[in-house]
Amino acid sequence: MTRFGIIGGGLMGHGIAVALAQAGHHAGVFDHDPAVLAGLGARVEQALTRCAVPAHPVGAVRDRIVPVDSLAGLGKHAEVVIEAVSERLAIKHDVLAALEPHIAPDTPVWTNTSVLSISRIAKAMSYPQRLVGVHWWNPPYLIPLVEIAPGANTGSAHVAHAHDLLAALGKTTVRLHRDIPGFIGNRLQFALVREALYLLDEGVCEPETIDTVVRSSLGLRWTAVGPMENADYIGLDLTKAIIGSLAPALSTQTYDFPTLDRLLAQQRTGRPAGAGLLAWPAGRDREVAERLEAGIRHNLSR
Ligand SMILES: NC(=O)c1ccc[n+]([C@@H]2O[C@H](COP(=O)([O-])OP(=O)(O)OC[C@H]3O[C@@H](n4cnc5c(N)ncnc54)[C@H](O)[C@@H]3O)[C@@H](O)[C@H]2O)c1
Repeated sequence: MTRFGIIGGGLMGHGIAVALAQAGHHAGVFDHDPAVLAGLGARVEQALTRCAVPAHPVGAVRDRIVPVDSLAGLGKHAEVVIEAVSERLAIKHDVLAALEPHIAPDTPVWTNTSVLSISRIAKAMSYPQRLVGVHWWNPPYLIPLVEIAPGANTGSAHVAHAHDLLAALGKTTVRLHRDIPGFIGNRLQFALVREALYLLDEGVCEPETIDTVVRSSLGLRWTAVGPMENADYIGLDLTKAIIGSLAPALSTQTYDFPTLDRLLAQQRTGRPAGAGLLAWPAGRDREVAERLEAGIRHNLSR
């Protein structure tokens, strides 16, 4: 049993706590928002109910997750600290600088950043060698993958330690050779999102059509055969012919995304606003959350 300290009790922080507690670990969770800490128990219960964990273990798992009201309190017991605060470099800098006086110099710290550079996050730290990029996917208690990346100054023993702990949890771990924004998964995911937005900008199709194409073709294929194996399967000569012909036609947008910018200017921010690329009538958010988890569970059970 390892005692984890999680900073940030939001979507990822509480989900990571559930994943750890299900494996028998202890998780203290600190958040600067008292309302988040007050609601932690209820959100953990909801996650465990959705996981369909049998009744008795729910209590045991829930009891291993405790809210903590200060970084000092979190640091007192944590053998490993996981940073899961908002995705802003300045916030992560402030939090890590405030944390370090409360933990021993060799206590590992994992950052769950999605796209920030591990080396840049570590710049605020007195002991940057202990910071490892450990990127979980939502929901962390369901998705097997965790990506692990070192920053420029990360000690190799800290990377190996993170890998071993996560592998023992039953996670599918991948180790990047070096720090790169977005790890592997988000780079691939947002390359596809950029192209999808470009198709909308060009008037090629509706947003729903893009989801239909992905869900009925690529999404099905990729759970069985990844794009590298598929490239070999169809032959690298054909792969070269296709990418050589298509690459010049693909989006290279880096800043302006007209469809996205127009919707944002109209306050159509998606689910929270009730409208975005798609319409979000009442109840759709819950239906999507349930379909997402049910779909992942279905794929995992095959
Ligand atoms: N949402 C995802 O699917 C996902 C997936 C992988 C990684 N991530 C990354 O995980 C991190 C957290 O994302 P999230 O989706 O859980 O965000 P979230 O907004 O749900 O939660 C962030 C939490 O951090 C807390 N917080 C902010 N500043 C703080 C501070 N100074 N001290 C203590 N707590 C503070 C907030 O109160 C909030 O509860 C981000 O770096 C994000 O990029 C998100």
